[in-house]
Formats: sequence, C-alpha cells, structure tokens
Amino acid sequence: MPSILQCIDCGQQFPIDTVIYACSSCQGLLDVKHDFGQSRTRLGSELFDGRLGSLTAPFNSGVWRFKELIYPGIEDDQIVSRMEGNTNLYQAPRVAKYAGVDTLYLKHEGENPTGSFKDRGMTTGVTQARILGMKRVACASTGNTSASMASYAAHAGMQGIIFLQDQEIALGKLAQGIAFGATCLQISADFDRNLELVRQAGDRLGIYLLNSINPFRLEGQKSIMFEALQQLRWRAPDWIIVPGGNLGNSSAFGKGLLEMHDLGLIDRLPRMAIIQAEGANPLYRHFAGGFKHFQPVKAETIASAIKIGNPVNLQKAIRTIEWTNGVVEEVSDQEIMDAKAIVDGVGIGCEPASACSVAGARKLAARGVIKPGDTVVGILTGHALKDPEATVGYHADSLSDISPAFQNAMLKADDDLDEIVNLLGLHQAKV
Ligand code: F0G
Repeated sequence: MPSILQCIDCGQQFPIDTVIYACSSCQGLLDVKHDFGQSRTRLGSELFDGRLGSLTAPFNSGVWRFKELIYPGIEDDQIVSRMEGNTNLYQAPRVAKYAGVDTLYLKHEGENPTGSFKDRGMTTGVTQARILGMKRVACASTGNTSASMASYAAHAGMQGIIFLQDQEIALGKLAQGIAFGATCLQISADFDRNLELVRQAGDRLGIYLLNSINPFRLEGQKSIMFEALQQLRWRAPDWIIVPGGNLGNSSAFGKGLLEMHDLGLIDRLPRMAIIQAEGANPLYRHFAGGFKHFQPVKAETIASAIKIGNPVNLQKAIRTIEWTNGVVEEVSDQEIMDAKAIVDGVGIGCEPASACSVAGARKLAARGVIKPGDTVVGILTGHALKDPEATVGYHADSLSDISPAFQNAMLKADDDLDEIVNLLGLHQAKV
C-alpha cells in the first residue's frame, strides 16, 4: 500500500481502508500519508505541467492532475470527478490597491462546479466512499459542503444526507442541496452542534462522514496550493491568505506546501495568513494567547460560511501556522462586506466569507505584517451567487450594523423616458 492513515498526535498508523475519522487510541486527527518512494524523482514540475490542458480523465481535473500527490495507487476508474479545479488566478491591481499591497493574486475557488472549493475535497472524499463501498454519505454544513457533497453523491449514485441549521443558510447553497437530491435535514442547532450530531448519527447508521475531519477531503483541497503554485510557475509567493472556519483549508494548505517543498517543487515556503470573522474567531484568540488555552466561541457573523465556533481541524491549523511562520488575523463584518464590494466591483465577485482574504490582507498590510513589495495570493473560497441576500442587502443598505462604504444603490424610475434620461444623466455625472 503506498498510502496509510496516521495520527498527527501519537503517530499510530491505520490501513488506508479503515473507516475512521480520529485516532482510536488518543482521538487525534488523522493524516493521509503517501509514500512517494521510488517515484519521487519523477514528481517534478515537468510531469504536472505536461498534463495542463488535458482533455482526458483523470488529468482534466485540477485535483487529479496531481494524482501522485493526492491519492497514488488507485485505479483511474474509481475516481468520482466533475473535472473540478482548474480555477483562475487573477492578477487584481485595483483590489491590491484597496488592500494596500503591491501584488495581489486572487485564486477563485468559486469557479468550481458547485461554486466553492469544497468540490476539490469532495472528489477525493466521495472517491474514497466509493472505494469503501459506501452507499450513503453525510455532512453537517453551513451550506457549501452540503451543496458539493449533494452533487458528488448524486454523480456517484449515492444518497447524500445533509445536516443544516434552520436559519441563516445562504439561499444559493440551500437550493443546491435540495436540487441535487440530497436528504436535507434542517435542525434547530448551530453548525458546531450539527457536526457532533452527524458524527454520532453516522456512527450509529454506518453512514460515511464527509466533513473536513475526514482526511481524504483535505487531500483534495491541497491541490489549491499545487495549482496556484503551478500558475505562478512554481515560484512561491510571500503570503497565502485564506479565510478560516472549520480550518480544513488552512490544514490542507500547510500539508500541501510542505509536500511541495519536500519534493523540491518549490524552494521556499510562503507564509500563511488565516483570517477569521471577529464574531467567529476562536483560532485568532488562541493565536493571540500564544496557543495556551483553547476556548470555543458562540459564533455570529454575516459571513455565514464561517460561522463556526469550535473548528475540528484546530490542531492541524496550528501545525500549518508553525510550519509556515504563519499568522492569524480577525476582521469585522463591516470590513468583510466592504472588501466583498471591492472584489465584486472589479467584476470578479465572491461570497462574504471569501472576502476575508482581501479584508485580512488590508489589515495585515496596514499593520506592517505584510511588507511593501510582498507578493500575496488570496483565496476566494466561494462564488458571488451563493449568498444573494447579503449582496443585495449591502447595496440596499438594509443590513443591520453595516453601512455600505461602496454602495451601488439601485435607481428607480417610472415608465417615463424623460425621467429615465434625466436620471442616467445625473448618474453619469457621479461616476
Ligand atoms: N469559505 C467558504 C465559502 C466556506 O464555505 C467555508 C467553509 C470556508 C471559507 C471555511 O473553510 O472550514 O476550510 O476553514 N464552509 C463549510 C461548509 C464549513 O459547511 O460549507 P474551512
């Protein structure tokens, strides 16, 4: 077997086909570990660059293009893929100016098949479910995981079961879960509680869990780093900035960066900056307190995707911060929505949680942590269409406690040509 499961705390190993989400001895989180072994020397940039633009499965996927680093040793026909990944890396000078940094790239994971980065983790997670012979898969979700899992489960002919909180789920995400035919449970509990519930229900019923505590999810999400670095011609930026909720991405990125460095694909590690919403900031508090005593929080933020108070991947995220000399920052809902308006306003667009990357870059640059001349890659985690209420609410100035600094207010007119012409004349004068 070229791959095994290994506890990040006590090092205990388990066969790769064990259905397990935490170490049975110490409850530590599990890593999927690959033995690159004799093929190491082959795993260079030429191999992966040679597959760019491939029209054939599995290399037409931006995850499976890196198959040797994701899940070597499995048969190609076991893979459940929607040709995820292959997302754009935008150079965004106007957003960079707003953030106060010289060079900002935005990697838009909202361009995945279901509109968020989750598809990269779901192709690997559902592939493992198929390998294990699972018929039912489940997750708790703030919306994007469920949308993605519903799609991949349907694609693979499995039943998807999703645990959702009964309020504040963005409409675009809810609609996807229902449309893709998942069994949708609205529960009067927040995300953190729903995650406990789905773990217990899954154990009792033998349903495969596809939250990011499942290490196969993170193997797919690593590819965001592989692909971003490939797009940068394997030249490491100074900073990678990512929103932090359940901390799956933060964890996956650290592992992926380390593997790339170990294989000589990059010659230095970028620093990671993890950005949390002020109202959902347990990692930020823990970081600020020197990682001494972790306290979950009761989460509240307009960025509903990251309304998470007790992140399951905490220990892996701390490891990422240590490996990359990383930092954690917090941003207010006002800063998130203003940064979103800037990203939206240059025509790229993202959902509120994603805008943490830009709001965080701005704050870290203002504090002098990001230095002039640093190259920054911000991850946009989800598509602008995911959360239309937040966008329309911002521009209509109807969100409580937020005053839209970059408002694009709707104009209204009667069925009267003179009035319309007059209005447009005035508006033109304003821009
Ligand atoms: N951005 C978006 C758009 C998300 O949907 C999520 C997580 C995150 C950021 C945070 O990523 O958990 O890896 O730190 N959404 C999960 C969900 C929790 O259920 O869709 P993380």
